Amino acid sequence: MIIECLLRHSVGKRGIRCIHTSQRLAKEALKNSKNKSQSSQEWLRRQLNDPYVRRARYENYRARSVFKLMEMDEKYGLLSPGMIVVDCGAAPGAWTQYVVQRLKLDASEPHTTGAVIGVDIRPIQPIAGAILLSNTDFTKPLNQSKILHSLNGKSVDVVLSDMAPNASGQHDFDSMAIHALCYSALQFSLTVLRPFSGTFVTKVWEGPTTPALRNDLSVFFSEVKHLRPDACRGDSTESYILCRHFKGVKR
Ligand SMILES: C[S@@+](CC[C@H](N)C(=O)[O-])C[C@H]1O[C@@H](n2cnc3c(N)ncnc32)[C@H](O)[C@@H]1O
Repeated sequence: MIIECLLRHSVGKRGIRCIHTSQRLAKEALKNSKNKSQSSQEWLRRQLNDPYVRRARYENYRARSVFKLMEMDEKYGLLSPGMIVVDCGAAPGAWTQYVVQRLKLDASEPHTTGAVIGVDIRPIQPIAGAILLSNTDFTKPLNQSKILHSLNGKSVDVVLSDMAPNASGQHDFDSMAIHALCYSALQFSLTVLRPFSGTFVTKVWEGPTTPALRNDLSVFFSEVKHLRPDACRGDSTESYILCRHFKGVKR
């Protein structure tokens, strides 16, 4: 487990080489893994054979997770230049990298008005064009105030939550733990999203409380879709709920 965490969050010199470093370390670790647990060995093998890991490496993204957001964006047109986006659970930073590109926040478009704020409880290495809040627990009200402060009164077009707790292996418990993060991101969204057009995307691990979560989301959004992008691992219960057309609440 420790090896897995180290590899997942290893970042190279320029901050965009996480996957490269991870692949190299995975190969070395697999060679030396005879004494490691079976699950660590399986993870290493899967990492080396995963086409999304290879593609992320080739396209200079920090994690394979980028392809989940990319697929949802390509299908539903979530992101465009000029938008304000908050990315909750942003480390190591692949979703934020993608948002920066889609919003043209890199040097290619100097006069763009949009912004992306990436937040994570872990460190996030710098990403040109993004505002990053590292070592920041999103669920803490004080930290949400910091995000509001960086927004400077502007409404948000898209709130993304790819937040995930450390899994305990107890399926129902883990599912409820991730739902707690979803509700925290939802509550924040209700205060910042642009009424009638705002979008909220959240990762879930399916469990007994997922239908209730979906019902709650449909109170606040006109369109709620449950999606499972191709890049979700076959053996995981992970999926995403895409909520569009925020109905607005009385503030
Ligand atoms: C699947 S990873 C996100 C990957 C990211 N979307 C990317 O593409 O690089 C889930 C992240 O959620 C973060 N997380 C979990 N609980 C959090 C919390 N309370 N506040 C902020 N981030 C949290 C974890 O630290 C982890 O980095």
